Amino acid sequence: MRTELSLANLAGIKTELLAVLAIDAQTAKGADAKPQPVLLTGDDAVKSAAAAVLNSGEYKAGANETLLLHSPAGIAAKRLLMVGLGKQARATVHSVRNAAGTAVRFTKPRGIRELAFALPEAAAGLDLPVAACARATVEGAFVGDFDPDTYRSDRKDLSVESFRVAAPVNADRAALQSAFAEGVIIGESQNFTRSLVNEPGNKLTPTILGQRASQMASETGLKSEVSSTEKLHELKMGAFWSVSQGSEQPPALIVLRYEPQGVTDGPILGLVGKGITFDTGGISIKPSENMEKMKYDMAGGAAMLGAMRAIALLKPKVRVIAVVCAAENMPDGKAQKPGDVQTAMPLAPDKPGKTIEIINTDAEGRLVLADGLTYARTLGATHLIDAATLTGAVAVALGQVNAGVFSNDDAAYEKFNAGLATSGEKFWRLPLGDEYADMIKSDIGDIKNTGGRYGGAITAAEFLRVFAEDTPWIHLDIASMAWIEDNKPFIAKGPSGVGVRSILEWVRSF
Ligand code: BES
Ligand code: MN
Ligand code: ZN
Repeated sequence: MRTELSLANLAGIKTELLAVLAIDAQTAKGADAKPQPVLLTGDDAVKSAAAAVLNSGEYKAGANETLLLHSPAGIAAKRLLMVGLGKQARATVHSVRNAAGTAVRFTKPRGIRELAFALPEAAAGLDLPVAACARATVEGAFVGDFDPDTYRSDRKDLSVESFRVAAPVNADRAALQSAFAEGVIIGESQNFTRSLVNEPGNKLTPTILGQRASQMASETGLKSEVSSTEKLHELKMGAFWSVSQGSEQPPALIVLRYEPQGVTDGPILGLVGKGITFDTGGISIKPSENMEKMKYDMAGGAAMLGAMRAIALLKPKVRVIAVVCAAENMPDGKAQKPGDVQTAMPLAPDKPGKTIEIINTDAEGRLVLADGLTYARTLGATHLIDAATLTGAVAVALGQVNAGVFSNDDAAYEKFNAGLATSGEKFWRLPLGDEYADMIKSDIGDIKNTGGRYGGAITAAEFLRVFAEDTPWIHLDIASMAWIEDNKPFIAKGPSGVGVRSILEWVRSF
């Protein structure tokens, strides 16, 4: 999708489709409080082209509600699409992001290949920050343009070819242009993640994930190193290796480095991702219903790769290392068994690694992340963030509405939380504590890899905390949000790319 920013009078834009935002300005409540749709534009010609239908009461400007007019009178566009932001009091930059996705997803299946989208102008008491809207609009457009049907044999590429963001002629071009350019990078990076997550297990093995990561790294100027079994043994990554041992597919330890010029001190951020390219559960095998979904068990790792892509292109002044632990969790004669004891990677050669009693081979994500976190620390990470489709329990707790966030450090968490205002992603903090840590003590070794049904997302986080130790650390359990079950007006069902934008904002806050 080509994108372009133009400062122009809306009425004069020659386009197949001009999308304009609308809010419901009604503030009264109750039965006679009829919706009051108001267009967020100062352009009189556009307003008068839409006046009749807005006065008809047919269109309420609800969130992502659309209405299309053909051959609108007095303007150059062939079609005028109104996209609702909902009630004025609730409309935010994030509603604009979704509305842009809605406009693209409206356009795409109709065979229209080009559209213009008007940034919201102040109207009816609503005045959204215009640069933030420009960025969000482009992000939303890329998100909306993505569809998961890559392997359909009759697939015609129905992508929108050109998306033009239209701003008023008197806008500050320089400020808008840089926000717009950020939006392109971030939207494309989120889709990079989604395209990886969408790949089935037979097409995206750990080895291939490693190749995709190093290809992206060489395109964006990151350093990369991908290693496998031998390196795992050399580093004594007993926990990570134990997950891969039942698969014909060798594991991949993917390390990407972003080292901005002239930055030789200050923090080093360690981004650690779970990259299980398929999770059968192993010997503790999963039921067959929905097992096909477990191709998305590398969504945390893919989120880190997407974030690294955006970091490489946006160039924040902080060093970042990403460690993605990729493996396939399979049952086999060589697979690990419940009751086995594994020794995790030691933090230093002279220190013993923590021992882990395997209760359930389906609790594999925490095993690969344990060694990933330790490895990131040995590479010098001063602050850690991990992302993983770690537990079904996080979806039981939060629904498919929020992802879970955990932290051993309030300051690190506050930085992450502040970034959510920009990313628009929904994460909800869940607690940690000694009572939970007690639930994963092992009789035979140091810890066990499950703590039972209750508090399952929390005991999984406590397991990871054992390896983060006193390094400030954030854990994102994205199992509830990495796969969207139903189509929405602004995003296709399938991989969401959750995490990319929030992890990026966290990095940029340093
Ligand atoms: N990959 C799963 C978690 C998951 C479940 C992700 C549903 C996305 C959707 C993870 O490896 C797993 O199997 N977790 C177990 C842990 C249990 C055995 C302690 C779970 O959540 O049931
Ligand atoms: Mn599992
Ligand atoms: Zn898993």
